[in-house]
Amino acid sequence: MLKQIISFAHELILQAVEPGETIIDATCGNGHDTVVLSKAVGVNGQVLAFDIQKQALRNTKQLLDKQDIRNVTLIHASHENIRFYLHEEDHGTLSGAIFNLGYLPGSDKSVITNANSTIKAMDTIVDFLKPGGLIVLVVYHGHPGGDEEKESLLKYLRTFNQKHFNVLKYGFINQKNHPPFILAVEKKK
Ligand SMILES: C[S@@+](CC[C@H](N)C(=O)[O-])C[C@H]1O[C@@H](n2cnc3c(N)ncnc32)[C@H](O)[C@@H]1O
Repeated sequence: MLKQIISFAHELILQAVEPGETIIDATCGNGHDTVVLSKAVGVNGQVLAFDIQKQALRNTKQLLDKQDIRNVTLIHASHENIRFYLHEEDHGTLSGAIFNLGYLPGSDKSVITNANSTIKAMDTIVDFLKPGGLIVLVVYHGHPGGDEEKESLLKYLRTFNQKHFNVLKYGFINQKNHPPFILAVEKKK
């Protein structure tokens, strides 16, 4: 009955998206979230998918090509630069974003997301989000550096004004080994 972390992350984001909209995959990695987002926005929408590792973009491209998915723009850049890939007129139109934090599974565990760039990216996305838009973060924190990112994000998100945002934390508190959890930010209508 209780949704596992990734399924719940997808279920949440799907509720915020309408076909034809623009959505962000802030950490495309192996592309699994990118595929979900692509299907949600449909052929008339678009996904902007970021990663700092060429390998991640190659893996994502391979997955997208297999399914003949064409509404994704793959961007080899840090998500802290998202602003440069959006236009003035995109303000208030973005349906949301997914961040899957940590390192690329099966790859170099020292290349990880960090609080500074994650928060910078979130500041931009919040600014461009439509009313009812949603940012979902899947927070992995068992690796070196993960705990610092987690604590900084929690501190940052606690400052969001409840008049304008709902901020959710969802996770299993009886699992061993630093289980991942979800943080979600909804811009109120
Ligand atoms: C946990 S993986 C993402 C998994 C992916 N969502 C999937 O479905 O396979 C985290 C990814 O974040 C990327 N990353 C780390 N720092 C980043 C940054 N500043 N901007 C964009 N991507 C970043 C890593 O290269 C890695 O591929």
